[in-house]
Amino acid sequence: MLTLDSLNGMRKEGVPIAALTCYDSSFAVLLEEAGVDILLVGDSLGMVMQGRNTTLSVSMEDMIYHTRCVSRSSGRAFIMADMPFGSYQENSEKAFANAARLLSAGAHMVKLEGPLYETVEFASKRGVPVCAHIGLTPQSVHRLGGYRVQGKSEEDARRLLGEATALEQAGASMLLMEAIPGELAAEITESLSIPTIGIGAGSACSGQVLVLYDMLGIYPGKQAKFVKNYMEGASSIRDAVSRYVEEVRKGVFPGPQHTF
Ligand code: KIV
Repeated sequence: MLTLDSLNGMRKEGVPIAALTCYDSSFAVLLEEAGVDILLVGDSLGMVMQGRNTTLSVSMEDMIYHTRCVSRSSGRAFIMADMPFGSYQENSEKAFANAARLLSAGAHMVKLEGPLYETVEFASKRGVPVCAHIGLTPQSVHRLGGYRVQGKSEEDARRLLGEATALEQAGASMLLMEAIPGELAAEITESLSIPTIGIGAGSACSGQVLVLYDMLGIYPGKQAKFVKNYMEGASSIRDAVSRYVEEVRKGVFPGPQHTF
């Protein structure tokens, strides 16, 4: 079974980590068999499974249900679960209590968005492995004014670098970076000693993640520049996922055409 230590070992050895979102039991089995290292029970389920325009309405009950579905059928993969909007921003005690519910449901780590240093410190000191999510943070879509690339100006880039460093110091065990320039993600990855997972953050991260339904080409919404449809030319879903894992491992995905 993969652990935080083994994932950090992959980072040190320069073996790219392959992650995908996963929301149910059948896909948990298939993704594991295809070699996916991290199954992210993402709150993107609000969009790809529930048909909402944003992730904002996803509840703790939704996350617990899908985390149980995934963890029940998984053996090797490391399971990360998103903390939904409203479940952790208010105060650290509430964040810890909700994180504990996700760990009880089978998650090995929780992910939360933004530079919430105190919350990360509070939860990690109490035994909760935390992945911090920076850059384009979808739960802040209305504040950000849309799903836009972040960290493009020098000022924003320095702010994100500062956030990443402070989140690691606060106790984050992993960092997910979404939709930021590849050069900035490379600089952040270089300056940290925890794994970084990128989505639209270039090839220099310690690993990559995509939304499963995007890389299978079945999400009806608009596709971001950083998405590749692995069903094109694949003989089956299993084949598509295996090719994703292989391309991540070889550093072929993401290419320049997927990078800001
Ligand atoms: O919920 C999600 O799908 C995410 C993405 C960044 C992969 O958090």
